[in-house]
Amino acid sequence: MKVDFYTSKREYNENKKEFDDAVINVMQAGIATLGKEVVDFEKSIEEFTGAKHAIAVASGTDALILASDILGFENGKEVITSPFTFLASTSCITRRGGKPVFVDIDEETFNIDTNKIEEKITKDTVGIVPIHLFSQMADMDKIMGIAGKYNLRVLEDAAEAFGMQWKGTGAEYSHAGTIGDFGVFSFFPTKTIGAYGDGGMIVTNNDELASLARMYRVHGASKKYHYDYIGYNSRLDTMQAAILQVKMKYIRENIKKRETVANWYFDRLKGCEAIKFATLKGNQNPVYYVFNILTEKRDELAEYLKKNQVQFSIYYPIPLHLQKCFSYLGYKKGDFPVTESICGKILALPIYPQITEMEVDFVCETIRNFFK
Ligand SMILES: Cc1ncc(COP(=O)(O)O)c(C=O)c1O
Repeated sequence: MKVDFYTSKREYNENKKEFDDAVINVMQAGIATLGKEVVDFEKSIEEFTGAKHAIAVASGTDALILASDILGFENGKEVITSPFTFLASTSCITRRGGKPVFVDIDEETFNIDTNKIEEKITKDTVGIVPIHLFSQMADMDKIMGIAGKYNLRVLEDAAEAFGMQWKGTGAEYSHAGTIGDFGVFSFFPTKTIGAYGDGGMIVTNNDELASLARMYRVHGASKKYHYDYIGYNSRLDTMQAAILQVKMKYIRENIKKRETVANWYFDRLKGCEAIKFATLKGNQNPVYYVFNILTEKRDELAEYLKKNQVQFSIYYPIPLHLQKCFSYLGYKKGDFPVTESICGKILALPIYPQITEMEVDFVCETIRNFFK
């Protein structure tokens, strides 16, 4: 049996007419950048996440760049983040000369180790970029506590975290992205809510920051051809917004299905000594965007899965502090031992709402056979 890591075709076929109509309606209505569909989709995101403002942009990467610019990550100012993530979480800090300062991750959650943040704060520190990876959020109680104490801005990289909720010691759950000054989502096709191309969203509860983000996505213009800032051309495509709006109708159901798939994996791989999973920490509701296993024999297992036509992914094989593009920061091998160790053991199994129980059974059986 061949098992895809992800395919968009099943979801398309489930709701073909709705997707087709959404796209055709955009064409029939005539060309419009930031059209009605974009505004409607922003409203849906505000309603779903509870954010006061949602500003749709061209990608999660752009969302991070715009937010970093607005928060003043520039000219040697230091921003604390973790090296176990996708490039865009850190490259956004460097666009205007901000300096990423890495902190190692927690070995059980893979998110920033909040116990190690304070020792990295200097007079030049201006912000923290926590990344909510794979299925769970970073400890937002600790992060907001530190940010308050040192007057730092918080940009939540919630690119992978759509639908995750943090309660911590608070009274209510808050959606990922809505706790810091800014939060960002990615609508890359494989994401919990994914477009048929690129897309992203900035969310904030701050009126002033929201108004700046709206300007920055249209070249920094307060009104047409009046440029208050040097911004970007980063608009969510109206066609993608129409598609994403269809997907919002099914988002709760799809998040639930991801949980069901994760539980199939937990159940079928239970007792397999050679495999470890992440541990959920803090009072929060996870969303299984990615399902990872950890094993000392990761590379051998990867070869075996390939041979048996089970697709997988490795997030992330090389940590950011060891990437060539960041060599100027002066980090070396051994600086972040937890991150480096996890990079050598982690492997992501196929998970998406339409994957079947039979496929998950096959994946788990293949893994068990490998370890026999
Ligand atoms: C943690 C993280 N940050 C940022 C991004 C960038 O998002 P995009 O691919 O939409 O530019 C991604 C997604 O790929 C991501 O996983």
